[in-house]
Amino acid sequence: MFNRFRKSGGPEPARPAPVAAATATAAAPRVAATPVAVTRPRAAPAAPVHPAQAVAADKEKKRKDKLAELRLELHKRLLENLNLAALEHATEAELRAEIAAIASEALEEMSVVLNKEERQGLNQELYDEVMGLGPIEPLLKDETVNDILINGPRQIFVERAGKLALSDITFKDERHLLRIIDKIVSAVGRRVDESNPYVDARLADGSRFNAMVPPVAVDGSLVSIRKFKKDKLKVDDLIRFGAFTEEMAAYLQAAVATRLNVIVSGGTGSGKTTTLNALSSFIDNSERILTIEDTAELQLQQVHVGRMESRPPNVEGKGAVTQRDCLRNALRMRPDRIIVGETRGEEVIDMLQAMNTGHDGSMTTIHANSARDAVSRLENMIAMAGIEMPIKAVRAQIASAVNLIVQASRLQDGSRRMVSVTEITGMEGEVISMQEVFRYERVGLEPSGKIIGRFNATGVRSHFSERFRQWGFELPASIYEPIL
Ligand SMILES: Nc1ncnc2c1ncn2[C@@H]1O[C@H](COP(=O)(O)OP(=O)(O)OP(=O)(O)O)[C@@H](O)[C@H]1O
Ligand SMILES: [Mg+2]
Repeated sequence: MFNRFRKSGGPEPARPAPVAAATATAAAPRVAATPVAVTRPRAAPAAPVHPAQAVAADKEKKRKDKLAELRLELHKRLLENLNLAALEHATEAELRAEIAAIASEALEEMSVVLNKEERQGLNQELYDEVMGLGPIEPLLKDETVNDILINGPRQIFVERAGKLALSDITFKDERHLLRIIDKIVSAVGRRVDESNPYVDARLADGSRFNAMVPPVAVDGSLVSIRKFKKDKLKVDDLIRFGAFTEEMAAYLQAAVATRLNVIVSGGTGSGKTTTLNALSSFIDNSERILTIEDTAELQLQQVHVGRMESRPPNVEGKGAVTQRDCLRNALRMRPDRIIVGETRGEEVIDMLQAMNTGHDGSMTTIHANSARDAVSRLENMIAMAGIEMPIKAVRAQIASAVNLIVQASRLQDGSRRMVSVTEITGMEGEVISMQEVFRYERVGLEPSGKIIGRFNATGVRSHFSERFRQWGFELPASIYEPIL
């Protein structure tokens, strides 16, 4: 009855022994029996000398170790016995039943007794192993996890609420980890091996995935996963979490609605994409927006949105579609606004040109540590793209394209904040002139390590005040007044 999903023909390396044989084990132990069994509770040995508690703890530890061994053995048997091709057409219920059956046969054969909870846990793990991504499957399902960072099979770090911590989840060994990596990348038609040692992919749930395998990754495969959040943080959430204030939100709303070109700058994982996504909610529903990303993460709420995702080259090195290709094509698609998930290369030129030529209100993110740094990064990217232009001309291009730089930052206590809002006001000689309008001021540190600080206006009135007013956004003068 359970053979539907089992491999047929050929040697069956770990075929569960018939029940009769299992019951006979006590009398005549089978030579081939795997040495991995949590043994059936036997008559208690002679009473040990140490206190009862220590014995219980010791027993518990032994049981846990044996369970771990058992798990590995069962994973192995399952992968050997299941016909993975036939599984594609199985329903979840059928598959779960089949897994439970294989597991219970094996447990019986190995003379292992598990309680209901342990059995359910084990079946779930086995299911994750076959259908999901093995040990990391529970982390992917855990809504509180933002990032999963794997440094070889034995070290999995998890980020929750801005804090990274080592988890107690591990892979069996490097081969196990590689198998899961392979499962992920082959699902998106890619390959990773010694000759292609690193790869980007997107998980079925939309999470962003990057892996680098040995020998380039020295101590075992390195994997980074940015979990996809179905419910993106909205402006209200970000205000509530202290990422910025209501006053700043009013200002940003005016900036986005009046079509300023905005760059969200920040370090890795500082909340750039989240901020960009939240800011996009200020765009009017009637506008046609095109988004371009390497991994589609943005989730715009408007009706008229066209989403594009760049594509890496295939195994033969062909068929790549870069962000720049998408951007160039986007310009022929009559967009009102263009949003590039992250500008990091040659597409910078087309992005600036788009911002300068009638697609105002365009937005992107950039990896930089301050507004000034963001501008230098833009200059560098232009130089790297092989454009030979005098620096003054490059800066003039940037100054007329970009209106606003919003700096996101992950502070040392894990909180993510908009630490600076800076306007680009033009050029002074060869230098781009900027003015900071809002900033986050650190005041001190609580004993717990939490940063004490506050958002403040710098006292500078927005360069775009008149524009805001003309578009019907009357911001009270008080939002620009600093608290002393
Ligand atoms: N203000 C915030 N408060 C709490 N969590 C946040 C905040 N901003 C972002 N996050 C969470 O932090 C994680 C990283 O955010 P996000 O992807 O926006 O960062 P990023 O700067 O775009 O990262 P990367 O450089 O990797 O692209 C996400 O899981 C997001 O939900
Ligand atoms: Mg991002």
